[in-house]
Amino acid sequence: MSQAFYRKWRPRLWDQVVGQEHVVHTLQNAIRGGKVGHAYLFAGPRGTGKTTTARLLAKAVNCLADELSERPCDACEHCTAVNEGRFLDLIEIDAASNTSVDDMRDLRDKINFSPTQGRYKVYIIDEVHMLSTAAFNALLKTLEEPPAHAIFILATTEVHKIPATVLSRCQRHEFRRIPVKDIVQLLKQISAEEHLQVEEDALVLIARQSTGAMRDAISLLDQLASTGEKITLETAQNVLGTATNQSVVDLVSAMLARQADKGLDCIHQALDSGTDPRQFARQVVEYLRSLLLVRMGNADQVDATAEMRALMAAQAAQFDVAALLQAIKAFNSAANEGRSGWQPSLMLELALTETLNPPAVPLAAAPAAMPAAQPAPKTVPEAAPASTPARRSSTESPVPEPPAESAWQATPAAVEAPQDQPGASAPPASTAGEVTLQTINQNWAKICAVAKGRRPQTVGLLNSVKNFTIKDGVLVLGFATEVVRSKMDGENLEVTRQAVQQVLGVSMRIASVVASGKAKTLPDDLGVDADGMVGTALNLGGKIVDKD
Ligand SMILES: Nc1ncnc2c1ncn2[C@@H]1O[C@H](COP(=O)(O)OP(=O)(O)OP(=O)(O)O)[C@@H](O)[C@H]1O
Ligand SMILES: [Mg+2]
Ligand SMILES: [Zn+2]
Repeated sequence: MSQAFYRKWRPRLWDQVVGQEHVVHTLQNAIRGGKVGHAYLFAGPRGTGKTTTARLLAKAVNCLADELSERPCDACEHCTAVNEGRFLDLIEIDAASNTSVDDMRDLRDKINFSPTQGRYKVYIIDEVHMLSTAAFNALLKTLEEPPAHAIFILATTEVHKIPATVLSRCQRHEFRRIPVKDIVQLLKQISAEEHLQVEEDALVLIARQSTGAMRDAISLLDQLASTGEKITLETAQNVLGTATNQSVVDLVSAMLARQADKGLDCIHQALDSGTDPRQFARQVVEYLRSLLLVRMGNADQVDATAEMRALMAAQAAQFDVAALLQAIKAFNSAANEGRSGWQPSLMLELALTETLNPPAVPLAAAPAAMPAAQPAPKTVPEAAPASTPARRSSTESPVPEPPAESAWQATPAAVEAPQDQPGASAPPASTAGEVTLQTINQNWAKICAVAKGRRPQTVGLLNSVKNFTIKDGVLVLGFATEVVRSKMDGENLEVTRQAVQQVLGVSMRIASVVASGKAKTLPDDLGVDADGMVGTALNLGGKIVDKD
């Protein structure tokens, strides 16, 4: 069986370590000057070269080459023994499975014996943050007075978990994520030597997917190479489950066109095809960030294929910078939402909603050439507050305000013809098909107020609605229990229907169901603003779960 690429390609000499020059230079200088420390801490993300560098240091201090500057030589007996994992004075301890005090005491006892083969006994303690407090204390004693022949190299991905007492005794080196360009370069070299047929775009994709971890990048290449076929961008996308680039681009197109339904489709399609929601959110953020760079004139900082660049340039030109920032923020928070498991698509839906429904930011940039006096084009969403009455609380004002659809799509008719008289006949313009949940959500307080004016009992029921959905043009109200739901009978439904018609100018059928889950969460209970994030989430079908 052939050796895994990442083992085969583990750097054996200092200059083969990629992207960690700051660490390598310091260590090389120490070797050259014969001034090697007794305790090192290598901190940084996984797969960036910590163990590799620790072994290089172990090799260098024990190398038999005459010139200090040539250590490690990678050819002498000791270097070869380290490479082959049979050098007796290199002791690698995985702290994840040796966390006990006894393990550390054992280490402390053995450390006093002189090296068997080389000059130094080198202890590499990997994942050192996993040690228990007692084990750390035992280790600390050793670090306080290490024998002259001992060198400790502690490695960790979570430096914040290391006690200050240990940190203060170590020379600390920070490993960085490796830039995409550097990863691509090494992957190219490996591909050439392994005689792989690879498209450069595929390597770029692999490099991006590995988020700075060289091991991940090499492993992905290995995985793709195992098919024995040419590695194209397409096969890479399929294998990596990231054939979503197109969905990201489509989503952004939908945003620019202000087509919420299309945008939601893109999200659902991506998730249905197995993309992880957070991963998808990250891709959207990364793409939007690239658009921002392009927009700011820094296109050269964007790593992308020529084809992609052209597309980005076109989309970036259409975006308003403030709107772009808003979108990045919204999707970034979706990417950082750790507990999305209970409603995988929700955070993405929210991010899209937020993006299309910003406080007062037009999404599409107004064409620069447009004279200031000219009215805004229809596609620019209604953002000027002038034409919309100031927000009033529903108790002060049962008078319906125009529907707030304008934030999603420009619907000038609705804005120009608000219905301000209770009881007046509904504007005929709209049909139920046009009403979105968003519209219902934004106008819910008004609908309740109108219902209250007609029949006070009804509003009590409407206040206990847990969530709503629209199904085939029917507004479906969800209630916590059957007891409450059963009260939403014919007359109450009719009053609600009339209230919706009066506020939105749309005649919709209303139905009631028992909402699933232990939805004990009425927005009002929580003081949740029905128009805000959580309110929208609830109305999109989200449930508030107990955090443990
Ligand atoms: N900076 C780098 N330059 C070249 N190759 C690297 C680099 N970092 C990692 N690699 C590749 O990834 C493999 C794993 O690296 P290494 O074990 O050193 O990572 P690590 O930082 O110790 O990760 P972990 O935190 O998961 O232990 C190496 O065998 C090598 O192939
Ligand atoms: Mg390691
Ligand atoms: Zn050597």
